[in-house]
Parts: sequence; structure tokens; C-alpha cells
Amino acid sequence: MEILDYEHDRDFEAVKRILYEVGWLEDEDDATAFEAEARASRGFVVSIEGEAESAVFTVPGSLRHGDADLEMTAFTGVVTSRVARKLGAATRLTARALAVGAEAGSEVAALTMFDQGYYERLGFGTGAYENRIRFDPATLRVNRSFRPPRRLTAENCRDIYQAMRARQRGHGSIVMNVDGGLQAELSSYKATKTIGLGYYDGDDGALSHFLFGQTSGEDGPYRIRWFAYRSSEQLMELLALIRSLGDQVYSVAMEEPPGIQFQDLLNQPARNRDVSEGSKHAGAHTTRAHAQFRILDVPKCLAKTHLDAENVTFNLRLSDPVADHLQAGTRWRGVAGEYVVTLGEDCSAEQGRSRRLATLHASVGAFSRLWLGVRGASSLAVTDDLRGDGDLLRKLDRAVRLPQPHFGWPF
Ligand SMILES: CC(C)(COP(=O)(O)OP(=O)(O)OC[C@H]1O[C@@H](n2cnc3c(N)ncnc32)[C@H](O)[C@@H]1OP(=O)(O)O)[C@@H](O)C(=O)NCCC(=O)NCCS
Repeated sequence: MEILDYEHDRDFEAVKRILYEVGWLEDEDDATAFEAEARASRGFVVSIEGEAESAVFTVPGSLRHGDADLEMTAFTGVVTSRVARKLGAATRLTARALAVGAEAGSEVAALTMFDQGYYERLGFGTGAYENRIRFDPATLRVNRSFRPPRRLTAENCRDIYQAMRARQRGHGSIVMNVDGGLQAELSSYKATKTIGLGYYDGDDGALSHFLFGQTSGEDGPYRIRWFAYRSSEQLMELLALIRSLGDQVYSVAMEEPPGIQFQDLLNQPARNRDVSEGSKHAGAHTTRAHAQFRILDVPKCLAKTHLDAENVTFNLRLSDPVADHLQAGTRWRGVAGEYVVTLGEDCSAEQGRSRRLATLHASVGAFSRLWLGVRGASSLAVTDDLRGDGDLLRKLDRAVRLPQPHFGWPF
């Protein structure tokens, strides 16, 4: 099995065939959109008898922890053809891409999973629950006016990309450096079935707040996949705009904006959910965790971590399964090892061990979840690969009190 860097002219047709096989592409319009995305990404392929049969694509970006931004490698595609399954191809390609990212300076990696279980084998841990809401726009409790918006299409992808980068961001949010890739994503929606509306209130007339998604029929459901705003006022104007669609559209689905309890904004949510049950417009609130991420460099991540807490210092014995999947000769071998970690206003991690300190044992996935605040140490000790004595776990519970992390960038 040969692992190669993706070369567009050599590999595109074979990778396109894989994407048709796994059902990610349905027609040549999708393939054209994907081609732009492939060109804007870094790729790796497993080649069997001269043809790419498995591929992984990544883009660089950053992830916010508190007020600090960490260099990130984001995985935008992991696929294996029907003739190369279960050979370890995708696992080895993902490991390679992690190593290349880490060696280039990435401090974390992120992806959205197809299911739980697979990427844990490469050291990933599961992110926070996301709430997806489907609601009747006419039931939005937004008592304010809105201005006529500007219409947006995939042609406005640069404006949308800049608005995503400049949006109001919280803990765990990401940006991806995918200028061309976003164009591909937006043009992969059928042009006649998109809804794009926004306001250019930014400096120099930049797009400040917008929504972009897909429509369906006359009454919906509409699915808003992308939205951004720089202030709560702008969020409320977008919601007032969505409410105005309620004269025609019966249902709209979107992710809950980070930090907002969306049900607060709905009139009679229980009644509307129950009376619409069984309809394609049924009011719904679904919760699931689909993001995964992992630390690629423990000392660098900890050096950028600032907690509102008294110092806790402990030994960290970290395991990392990625090394089993890396080729010989790869310089980055994962982050397994022993560290002395301090959590507090200024956090740190140094390689080594102190006899005087209590020890936390963890897989990199579980420790990554603790570090980003997905769950506390005591909770992870029950459900994930993390253990330590009760006193240490309680101290860690008190030290790491972070808002729930949300990417806020669909991919
Ligand atoms: C997911 C996918 C890329 C795996 O490709 P692959 O090259 O066959 O994978 P590998 O050979 O590296 O790994 C397969 C192993 O992972 C295991 N695995 C797969 N899904 C798993 C899960 N959810 N939990 C635990 N293990 C899992 C398999 O059982 C197999 O184990 P085995 O070798 O012991 O039998 C491939 O099935 C695919 O292309 N699927 C469709 C596209 C897709 O969903 N991509 C992922 C996007 S996030």
C-alpha cells in the first residue's frame, strides 16, 4: 500500500469515482463543486496498482480556546473505495495527515464524524452536544423590525467567507482557511433551491450578518446551514427576517446559535411540536454530538490555555493510539508520554514526572475533551478513558469550568 500526496491531475478522476461510490456525489454539478474543494485542500491518497483507492483531505484553520486561537488541521473528507475497504487505508491516511499537520505547526485537529468509534482509534475525542431546531417561523418571538435584506448566492462566497471569519465567536469556535473550498460548498447546493439573505453593515460595507441554506417546495422545510452575525442585535434582525418567511413557509431548521437557548424564542413550543407530529414540518429539537477533535501538541495547547481557577499541578500520563498507524520514519509520533501539567490562570505542560504529585491517566482523546471543556474530569472518568484519584478529579472539576465548545462552522 503506497501513501502519496494527492496530485490533482493524476488523482482527481479516481477520487471522483470513490466519491460517486460512497454517495457523496450524485451528478457532474456536484463533481465540479468538489473539484474546486479538492484544489483548495491538502490531500493524501492510497494508491493501489496506480489508482487512488482511498483519500483524505484537510484544510488549515484555527480553533478558539477561551480568547486564544490555536493552529488547526481540519479534516474535510475521508473516503475509501469499494475495492479497498478494511485494509487500513483510511486509518493510515488520517494518521499521515495528522503527522503532516502537526509537523507544520498545527496544535489541534478537528473533524465531523460519520459515527463514533472510528476516529477514537486515531486519538480523537467527541465534542459537545449540538442542538438542531425545526420550528414554524411564524412562532418566533422576536419583537423587532428588520430591513429589506440583500439577496446572496454562491457568487457572493467571498463575502460569506469574510463574514464567517469576522463573526461573533465563542469558546470552541473554528475558522477554516478555505476561500475556494467555501465556494465549492455553496455552489454544491442546487442554485434554484438556495436561500441567501444578508446585510452589509460591516466596515467598508462588508457583509456583517447573513443566512444561507436550502429550500424545499413552496412551504419548506427550509434548512439554514450557514449563518453569522457580529452582535446580538444582528442575530435578532436575522431572526426577525426568518419570522417574516412565516407568511409562506411552515418550517425552518437550523443549528441553535451558540450561547442561545432557542426555545426561549418560540411561542408555545410544546403545543406546536405536538400538533405538528408526523408532518414533514414537525417541530423538533434534536441533540447530538458530531464534532471530534484532538490535541496534537500538549505543551503548546496548554501554554495558550487560561482558566479562571486556582493552580492545580499534577502528573499526566497520556496514551495516544495514533503511533500504531504511522509509517516508520514519521517524525511526529503522537503525544503519548509523561507530563507535569499546571492548570490555572497560566497553564503549562512540561515533559517529565514528579514523585510528589498525583497522576492523571488518560487517552489523548479523553484529555482533549477535558481541556476543551466538553465534560469534567469526574464525568470522563465514568464514560471515557481517564482515571485518577478522587481528590485530583474534584480539583480538576473545579479548575476546568468552560462554556460548552461549538465549532459554529459547518463542514
Ligand atoms: C469510513 C471509511 C473511510 C473507512 O475506510 P477503510 O479504509 O475501510 O477503513 P480502515 O480499513 O482504515 O478501518 C476499518 C476498521 O474500522 C472499523 N470501524 C469502522 N467504523 C467504525 C466505528 N464506527 N467504530 C469502531 N470501528 C469502526 C472497522 O470495523 C474496521 O475494523 P477491522 O479492520 O478491525 O475490521 C469507509 O468506510 C468509507 O469511505 N465510508 C463512506 C464515507 C465516510 O463515511 N467517510 C467518513 C467521513 S467522516
